[in-house]
This record gives sequence, C-alpha cells and structure tokens, in this order.
Amino acid sequence: MRKIHMFDTTLRDGEQSPGVHLTTEEKVSIALQLEKLGVDRIEAGFPASSLGEIVNVQAISKAVRNTSIAVLARAHKTDVEAAREALKGAATPCLHIVLATSPIHRKYKLNMTKEQVIEAAEMAIKYGKNYFSEIEFSLEDASRTELDFIYRVVDRAIQAGATVINLPDTVGYASPETFGDMFRKVRENVPSIDNVLLSTHCHNDLGMATANTLAAVYAGVDQIEGTINGIGERAGNTAIEEVALALETKQDIYQAKSNLVLNEIYHTSRLVSQYTGMMVQPNKAIVGDHAFSHESGIHQDGVLKESSTYEIIRPETVGVSSSTIVLGKHSGRHALKKKIEYLGYDLTQEELANAFENFKNVIDQKKYVIDDDIHKLINQEFINHKTRYELSDLVISYPDEQTEVTIELIDEKQNPSRTTIRGNGVIDALYNGIERLIGTQFQLQDYSIRSKNIEKDAIGEVIVKVKKDDQSYSGRGMDTDIIKASAKAFLIAINQFFQTDHRKAKDNSFTFTN
Ligand code: KIV
Ligand code: ZN
Repeated sequence: MRKIHMFDTTLRDGEQSPGVHLTTEEKVSIALQLEKLGVDRIEAGFPASSLGEIVNVQAISKAVRNTSIAVLARAHKTDVEAAREALKGAATPCLHIVLATSPIHRKYKLNMTKEQVIEAAEMAIKYGKNYFSEIEFSLEDASRTELDFIYRVVDRAIQAGATVINLPDTVGYASPETFGDMFRKVRENVPSIDNVLLSTHCHNDLGMATANTLAAVYAGVDQIEGTINGIGERAGNTAIEEVALALETKQDIYQAKSNLVLNEIYHTSRLVSQYTGMMVQPNKAIVGDHAFSHESGIHQDGVLKESSTYEIIRPETVGVSSSTIVLGKHSGRHALKKKIEYLGYDLTQEELANAFENFKNVIDQKKYVIDDDIHKLINQEFINHKTRYELSDLVISYPDEQTEVTIELIDEKQNPSRTTIRGNGVIDALYNGIERLIGTQFQLQDYSIRSKNIEKDAIGEVIVKVKKDDQSYSGRGMDTDIIKASAKAFLIAINQFFQTDHRKAKDNSFTFTN
C-alpha cells in the first residue's frame, strides 16, 4: 500500500468560504482536532494577509506539536518573511508558495511572460530556502496550463529547492478522465519529480473535486489536499473525509492508504461545522445526517438482516456512534463522563464540571439528550467566547395583535440595559432591540434554524451571519427555546465583531491573489 499524505487546508482555503470568520481560539481548537484526526500537514493560514493572521498561525504552531504546519505565501519576499515570522515556533514548518502558470492568469492577472513566471518562482523558492527546508510549490491553475510549460516550471522549482510540487485544479475545471493524465505525463517527462512529493488540490465547481482527486491518486500522486466537509472558496474544496473513505473502501483499485484516524472524522466534521457556521448538507457523503439512515422499509429490513446489504461503510468506522447509552434526568456525572469519553473527547476536570452543569440545565428542559446534544454541549465549553454582551432577560408578548419584545442585556462590567420594542415578527423585534441596546447596526446576511431530533423539546440550533464594515461574523446559538437560541446566535456574532482586531478584519477581506 502506498501512503497518501493528507494536507488539510480547512483553516486557509476553507476559511476563504464566504462569511466564515474563525477566532484564534476556534482555529487552535480545530487544528488540535486535525492533529488528532491524523492529517499529515495543516495549512494554518496566509500570514501576509494581516498581522492578526500571523498571530493565529503562531498560536496554532505553539499548540500543535506533532503535525507539520504550512502557510501560504505568494512568490514575494515580503510574503516569505511574513510566513517566517508566523511559523517561527512551529515544530515542523513548511512554506507553501503559490504562483499562477496558466495562460489566462499570466495574461490577465499577472501580466507576466512564461520566463518571468519561472524566474519569480525560482527567486521565491530560493529565498524561502534560507529559512525553510520544506517548501511546497503550487502552480496555480495548473489544470489549464500548457503541459510543456508545466514540465519546465516543475523542474526549475525542484532545482530551486521545492520538496513538494502541487498541481491544483484551481477553478474546478478538470474531469477525472483527463486530470490523471496530467500527473502521469509529469512523472514521465520530469525525472526530478521522483525526488519530491507530487500533490493535488481540487475545487468543486462542477461537483468533481473528489473524483478528480482520486483520479490523481490513481495516476500516482503522493499527497492530496482538501478540507473537512469540503468547505472552501466558491463551491469548496475536495472533502478530505470522502477521499479517506474511498481509499479505505476501494483498496483493490487505489492500493493506497492514508494515516487518518477514521473514527475521528465525524467529530471533526461537527466541530468544523459548529465553528464555521457552515451546516453539513444532510445527504452529504460520509458525514451528512442521512449518510447512515435507511428510510425505505425494504432497506431497513435488509440492514437488520445483514448491514452489508445496504451499507458499504459502518457508521462506527467514521465515529458515528450507534451506542445505546441514552442520558436522562437520572444520569449522573459518571454516565456523562463515560458518554463523553465514548464520543472521543478528553476533558479536564474543570471542562467536565462545566459540561455537567450545562447537561443539567438541558435535562431540566427535555427528557433525554442524544449524542448530538452532547457534542453541542461540549463544543460550547471548548470555546470560551469572550463576551461583551449577554442576554439576561427576554419577554415576548402580543399586545394589540402586534409582536412586542422586552430584552435585557448585561455588558462585560455587569451593567444591565433594557428596552421594549415592537417589530414585524419576533426575530425582527429581537434583533432590532439588541442593536438599539448596543448602539450598533449589523446587516443580517443569513439566518437558519434547525433541530436535530424530532421531539418537540429538541434543542434548537440557530445559525446567524451578520455583516459590518465589509466583514462577516457568524454565531451559532442553541437552546430548547428557539427565540433564545436566536438571541444567543446573534449575540455571539456581534461579540465576535467587538472582539476582532479591526485592522485584521479589513485585511482579511483580501484572500490571496498573485
Ligand atoms: O486553489 C488553489 O489553486 C489554491 C492554491 C493556493 C493551491 O488554493
Ligand atoms: Zn484552493
């Protein structure tokens, strides 16, 4: 079995998803979980984009000690310097330099000739070599680049010191039938490629990112790049979990294996979804809520007789618990601890005590909690959102057939403020009232609500995205009362705005361009 290296870019390309804005604490928490999942390299950010991004990467580098940390840089000395500063504490750092090579990008974006592109790549790699032994070089838009030019750039990049060569399908244009050929031909025509890792990185514009990535694996790449849940720029990136399970399930075809700890997949997926505010579509392969549920009677009957009739992957393989431990009113700290351990968490005494407090609050309101409720309870504990405003009281009434909401907030100095406001429905009144109390207005970009299980007392989950000064902030609130969940989600997003270093927020509005 060949080993396929897993390069995770959830925290860089994934964070380029519209509306996603992760705090430093959330990034560190995701990075630690990616380490637990067993990815080989974590792309932690793009340090040249802002000082805040450098701080984020430094925090991740300090926390993650057993997985290599990469950062992105354009082929500019200043980007390499920013990368150096960001990665100075990393145990196994890697510089990832990107430069576009396709005719479209050369002509319209870079205004550079082929020779100039090669020289710029060489200069950046050689400069990077002063500080980094591991350098990945990406030929942006490789899938739309002339093959003979790819050969030249790849060879010169390797001579300059690149240790990984990445050929991305930047715009999701490739098809599996031909994408693999590019890698085969590079192997045939660039002998030096055997001294480095050959990598691929696909986008999902035509829904073919996983298929293209697997075609590249079949053609002999050593590394694949992707994100958890497939999040990322536009239609997203290759979903790492899909590739890992395809390799696992189809060993006869790919003869390759990753080092991923497969039963950490589900938990990682939910953590990323929770912090990014990007829901996983229910029918999403591997990690969707419906991925392992069988609706039709014929299928249910088959699975009960023999699971392999309709299941090609056991839910437990990816960490979807089929446990029957149901926690209820009478469950104590010990039962909760066991359940938490079963779900793969390793909590400190203090975190466990907090989780137990949260559990008791929820169980007061509903008869029993399911595994997903527990994930939510714990993940709220992991991130100590610095809060400027908290909800302390909420009263809803309907005088004169109108909706009226009274809201009380307390600020970080415990000062209360209270207002009563009417609106076009509860959420309109609630959000306008909160804005009135804090004296700042936000543009509501997205509001969604869902409940995990079908009981009337299920925990409601509200995800809100707001925009302020060209920057988006998201919040997720959970409560058995959906109006309270809506208030919490809005306040989390707002608190993120107040917590953000606004110089960073502005800079972050630019993602990388060469
Ligand atoms: O899509 C792309 O080409 C990228 C590169 C930085 C690898 O994200
Ligand atoms: Zn990309």
